[in-house]
Amino acid sequence: MEKSPPGVPVVIMKGVMKTAAKKESFNYRLWKYDGAPGELIPLLQSAQEHFGYIPRRAITYISGVTAIPESDIFGVITFYSQFRLQPMGKFVVRACAGTACHVSGAKAIIDTIEDELEVEVGDTSEDGLFTFLTVACIGCCSLAPVIMVNDDTHGRLTPASLRKILKEYRRKGKKIAESAVGAS
Ligand code: FES
Repeated sequence: MEKSPPGVPVVIMKGVMKTAAKKESFNYRLWKYDGAPGELIPLLQSAQEHFGYIPRRAITYISGVTAIPESDIFGVITFYSQFRLQPMGKFVVRACAGTACHVSGAKAIIDTIEDELEVEVGDTSEDGLFTFLTVACIGCCSLAPVIMVNDDTHGRLTPASLRKILKEYRRKGKKIAESAVGAS
């Protein structure tokens, strides 16, 4: 059996063995960490890629390997908007805040999303169904104002049409969750 590098928990080493061929993996990066300056950000990016967000246990692993206190790592995570401490929802809602959408009412669209989903930009709803983000331009300005939900684009929105769309996703999400419970 392979030996664990000092400070790397066993659970991580299981992952290392499974994913050693994938050089960019979080576990591999942890394993090869050598204390060079500037490695914390790539480690955090790698953790986020691996888990979809940065869970508490990833912070503990990183702290164990790098000897950087967990509170400092947490500070770095909260400083950079690219990092997430919560998992993404089943539906990722991206509202365009680009120029064409802005002049076509993006503000009302963003307000409607926050109100309907009870989230703020960057948050995941309490039921875990929705994560809300804003983007600079989705690339279909002629349909402004526009949102994307996962890979689907919805354009020429009004607050009323948007509420209907979001309710439909919520209905779909609940149905999926119920059938998953029924199958287990
Ligand atoms: S500005 Fe919104 S899609 Fe381009």
